Amino acid sequence: MPVSSSTLDIPEHSSVPRHLAIIMDGNGRWATDRFLPRTAGHMRGVQAVRRVVESCGRRGVEFLTLFAFSSENWRRPQEEVSLLMRLFIQTLEKEVGKLQEQGVRLRIVGDIGRFEPRLQELIRDAEESTVHNSTLNLTIAANYGGRWDILQATQRLLAQHPEYAAHPERIDEAALAGYLSMAYAPEPDLFIRTGGEQRISNFLIWQLAYTELYFSPAYWPDFGPRDIDDAFAWYKDRERRFGRTSAQLADKN
Ligand code: IPE
Ligand code: IPE
Ligand code: MG
Repeated sequence: MPVSSSTLDIPEHSSVPRHLAIIMDGNGRWATDRFLPRTAGHMRGVQAVRRVVESCGRRGVEFLTLFAFSSENWRRPQEEVSLLMRLFIQTLEKEVGKLQEQGVRLRIVGDIGRFEPRLQELIRDAEESTVHNSTLNLTIAANYGGRWDILQATQRLLAQHPEYAAHPERIDEAALAGYLSMAYAPEPDLFIRTGGEQRISNFLIWQLAYTELYFSPAYWPDFGPRDIDDAFAWYKDRERRFGRTSAQLADKN
């Protein structure tokens, strides 16, 4: 299936989401409920990542995108930010071999230039060592913001096509979309946010234009294969109209 745009075409879609994007939220509250430090929740959250990667692979998801750290999460207490960075480093050191065995290709999207050199190096190595895998495309959004993404795409587009500055009317959606950091993936079919909040928090704001939005009350460390099944069952019953009417969809069948 080619990569297509929900606004320029009607994307092909099936009963299992081809691309699932998740905001992994609720680690802190999971820990606080247990009188544990918030960081204990982040550590448990890594186990949930493992479970969800495996179950998405088994269910035939092609692209799984996980929001791990937003461009606004630097505002958290310094100890929490440092723990998250350490956890990111440890997880890459430990898990890349397993991803390799499972045929998972890993990519990190976000402004990684702000991370410490060791982390940047691990990211580059992990991406390189899994580049030939194709069972599941796993993307971790780290120091990612949807606004940052649109801005960096605009900057790169103009840097590579200075002629657009004199003819801005020539810039179309497809031209800009090609510079977004997830240009390699179709737009998400299904979005899940755990932890009960119903907001996008500056995740993939361009790409979520026609994504089905699912909110789970479960905290991320508790989220697992059964919750994925519930979300997929809900998704299967959605009528994805992309601007058309129900009657038009019925006519096509
Ligand atoms: C999500 O869990 C993980 C990150 C944002 C890094 P939170 O840490 O936001 O958990 P809550 O929302 O405070 O419970
Ligand atoms: C969104 O969660 C970012 C990640 C899960 C990485 P937050 O917990 O940071 O979002 P807000 O602040 O509640 O909107
Ligand atoms: Mg949160």
